[in-house]
Amino acid sequence: MTAIFMHETQALIESAARLVVDYYKTLPQRPVLVPSTSESLREVLCEPLPVDGTGFETLLGTLRDVVFRFSRHNGHQRFFGYVASPGTPITTAGSMIEAALNANLTSWRSAPPAAELEHLVITWLKEMLGYPSSAEGLLVSGGSMANLAAMAAARSAIRPEAARNGLSGPPLTVYVSSESHFSLRKAAAILGIGEANVRIVSTDAQLRMDPAELERLIRVDLAAGRVPMCVSANLGTVGTGAVDPIDAIAKIAHRYGLWLHVDAAYGGFAALAPSGQPYFEAISEADSVTLDPHKWLYVPVGCGCVLYKNPSAAYSAFSHNAEYTRTIGLERNEAFAFWNYGPELSRPFRALNLWLLLKYAGTKRIGDAIESNIGCAKYFEKLVCASEDWVRDKNVAHHAADERSAQ
Ligand SMILES: Cc1ncc(COP(=O)(O)O)c(C=O)c1O
Repeated sequence: MTAIFMHETQALIESAARLVVDYYKTLPQRPVLVPSTSESLREVLCEPLPVDGTGFETLLGTLRDVVFRFSRHNGHQRFFGYVASPGTPITTAGSMIEAALNANLTSWRSAPPAAELEHLVITWLKEMLGYPSSAEGLLVSGGSMANLAAMAAARSAIRPEAARNGLSGPPLTVYVSSESHFSLRKAAAILGIGEANVRIVSTDAQLRMDPAELERLIRVDLAAGRVPMCVSANLGTVGTGAVDPIDAIAKIAHRYGLWLHVDAAYGGFAALAPSGQPYFEAISEADSVTLDPHKWLYVPVGCGCVLYKNPSAAYSAFSHNAEYTRTIGLERNEAFAFWNYGPELSRPFRALNLWLLLKYAGTKRIGDAIESNIGCAKYFEKLVCASEDWVRDKNVAHHAADERSAQ
């Protein structure tokens, strides 16, 4: 395929670049979304399987007039939809370079410089958080996959034979708050722990996990002969950005021998902003951490990260060898295989965009952007508090609703 299309490379890339530059130029004037229906989109997009090729300009036309036009523009300055990264021009360029190189990061020997860059960005991510430098980690597709990988490591730490023999014996239990992301319950379901064995710990008025309630639930499970396995603390809940009391939760986890996971998918990069740093004081207590560079690090979708304080539990959960993956006669670092620490074999060069962004912008500039985002949230809070028909949080909302219905 490469040989067939080589003579067209420059024309293709220049046309695509024009489309992309035009998109960035027109983005501020676009509506955040143009309403559409599945039926209206299918009407213009659905065609029979193409037997013959189509000119690139025609394809770009479809992208411009249909795909770009009807997309949800999460890079728009007024996109407040979800916890989404807006992406950046530098990572747009990076994505093209990544696709051209098409590195497959199964292991060091498949992609030597790319693997080294992944190790480097993992080192930088640990440094940003203040997480122990002896920890290890890898990039995954997102926060859900990072939570799954961390829970698999936690399961192996307590039941080393589980990956091979499956689960047997008294049920393992997992503790999350009522505000935790649903991917943790999903992970328990996938790993055979069972969603019914995920305990939902209640929260305080700021929607933070209540440590006393966590301890009570652990004791109830112990008394019933179950095996408390893991507690997941939030560093930025998906609903409100609440940060659980990690220090108090860590003490309970240590007391009862639980694996402490911190889901910092959303909040993790607040560590780069001065006002976010205090939330990271106890992060080194965590046995594993989830981060999502594709949220608050402005990297495009498809880039999460899991960090393991002691990677041997992850190794016992994930390590596998097939004849064709055997590494022979290589030095330790060169024999390194990412598949031994996470669920994927073929893996894209996710580190490229992270490395590009961090080198190009620097953590100072990114930290300033994050601080400015926090400033926007504080300003919004002020507007909400000053308004008559908005209330600030769930509990206040309930009170306000009660008050209204009582009037
Ligand atoms: C706290 C938290 N954890 C996990 C996730 C799941 O991340 P992803 O969408 O990257 O799978 C999210 C997503 O919003 C989140 O906010």
